[in-house]
Amino acid sequence: MCGIIGYIGNKQAQPILLNCLGRLEYRGYDSCGVAVSNSSIEVYKDVVRVGALRKASPRIKGTIGIGHTRWATYGEPSQVNAHPHCDCHGSIAVVHNGIINNFQRLKHQLISEGHNFVSETDTEVIPHLIEKYYRGNLEEAVEAALRDVDGSYALIVLRVGEPRLVAARKDSPLIIGIGDRENFIASDVPAMLDYTDRVMYLEDGDIGVVTPNSIKVRSDGMEVTREEHKISWSVADAQKAGYEHFMLKEIHEQPKVIRDTLGEYVQATEPVVDLAVMRDEGIESMLILACGSSYYAAVVGKYIVEELLGIPVRAELASEFNYFSRPLARTGAIVITQSGETADTLKAIKRLKEVGCPVLAITNVVGSTASRIADQTIYTRAGPEISVAATKSFTAQLMVLYWLALSYSQVDIKRLTDIRRLADMIMGLRQLPSKVQQVLDNEGKIMECADYLSAYEDMFFIGRGINFPVALEGALKLKEISYIHAEGYAAGELKHGPFALLGSDTPVIAIVDPDSTYEAMLTNIREVQTRRSPLIALAEDGDEAIGELADFVITVPRVDAIFSPVVNLVTLQLLAYHTAKKKGCPIDFPRNLAKSVTVE
Ligand code: AGP
Repeated sequence: MCGIIGYIGNKQAQPILLNCLGRLEYRGYDSCGVAVSNSSIEVYKDVVRVGALRKASPRIKGTIGIGHTRWATYGEPSQVNAHPHCDCHGSIAVVHNGIINNFQRLKHQLISEGHNFVSETDTEVIPHLIEKYYRGNLEEAVEAALRDVDGSYALIVLRVGEPRLVAARKDSPLIIGIGDRENFIASDVPAMLDYTDRVMYLEDGDIGVVTPNSIKVRSDGMEVTREEHKISWSVADAQKAGYEHFMLKEIHEQPKVIRDTLGEYVQATEPVVDLAVMRDEGIESMLILACGSSYYAAVVGKYIVEELLGIPVRAELASEFNYFSRPLARTGAIVITQSGETADTLKAIKRLKEVGCPVLAITNVVGSTASRIADQTIYTRAGPEISVAATKSFTAQLMVLYWLALSYSQVDIKRLTDIRRLADMIMGLRQLPSKVQQVLDNEGKIMECADYLSAYEDMFFIGRGINFPVALEGALKLKEISYIHAEGYAAGELKHGPFALLGSDTPVIAIVDPDSTYEAMLTNIREVQTRRSPLIALAEDGDEAIGELADFVITVPRVDAIFSPVVNLVTLQLLAYHTAKKKGCPIDFPRNLAKSVTVE
């Protein structure tokens, strides 16, 4: 999952490319590079972050260029494997995001035809293929080259002496930014927001030919038009607004994100999504598919829908679903994906559609691939989420799931298990922004606990019912950014094995909700303490019993049990953030991770 950028205009390309690459670093950051064309193509790349490349790279003159920030797939991070990659004569340069599955065979073929390769990457076959097919027309040579390629790609091609850039996409995102006597090509919108808020999304199979004053798009050899969109996100949205890290900023944005996401749907005059379709098709069960944090939101969604609508719900990992299971008849399918570009989730959408199963996508990125291949899309309104660790997007996904279940209960009234519940739910939803603000106001207490936890290397998170997936997500957040080995577990499961790992060096974080699971949680907490593990409890204000039992209590505001995942999770997000901060970890760019995973 790399970030690619292209610039063509009347300004010096290098500083613009480096600035945009800086905004793309959350997509991959093990190496980076730029190529600028003037009388020849000059390439500067290295195993450094963009900031260091900016300092080290010589000034390269030219108003056309391409850039790349990498997350290695084929070929370890090295100067020679960094992008851009060139052909034998250095006259064609390419940046690529995706994977070329048949590159080994193509490489052998090209070597037998006299081409010299310098890197271990799959991408390097592309400039050599373009060189092989070039007969004076760059886009035709790119089209011919891509006919040989099997795999996923978003790529930009630069050729010396050519006053244009050629871009192509298949299964990886690519967007054109429209300027005044200049144009941009990028993997996503935040990269270009300093320069334009007018964009055009390329579709799979599109070839874009971009000059300073024109944009032409071809698909299957035919000229096509792609709609121009105006982006509502501001540059500020994509900046830190005075917070030390994007993650902390995004955690603190959640009261607004809840208002924005709910506000959009509760006030909508037109139905945001046609739930009647699901009723009319006699949907009898639901299948929710996703990956990573979005999958844990899907599991919370299972509890919400089953409780409110009494419809059986399967929440499944998209990567597993793609190989092992299939939707049942009369199943409504929902996929959840913040980026809208996660390869496993996109593949699941395609599989569902192949068997005629209607797919509703919940995504945060307008125009993302998921939003364009699903039958219907509901957008979370979390704004750009830059930090690799998902926080506000998770909460926004829960808001959509609450709203979906509520709306569906009104469409199919016989489904609603308890009519009074509807009014309580709407009231509870409206109070959530202020409840989350209370959690944020309690940050000092959470920081104390984080200081305590930062000394440990292993720990467990436990919860029951709707807070079991919250324990899973809490553990994932801590793993991702603090590198502490943490496991989320259903509280009732610890005694079936993990007890063996408990002891004074393995704290347990217990999510204790005053619902039907309360007594059982107290029992589990006593069992943990008998095995000398330090016990940190998330519990409601004024819960004395827990106060006596736990070594550390973080109080959370009183909410309806069905909303407890929201306040508990924001608490665990802050706990993970401050534990990682205490350990001095690179919070926004954790090692080995990337924001959207666009390969299987
Ligand atoms: C979460 O913090 C991670 N960034 C990761 O698990 C993420 O949730 C997963 O890759 C799914 O991404 P998506 O929501 O964009 O599909």
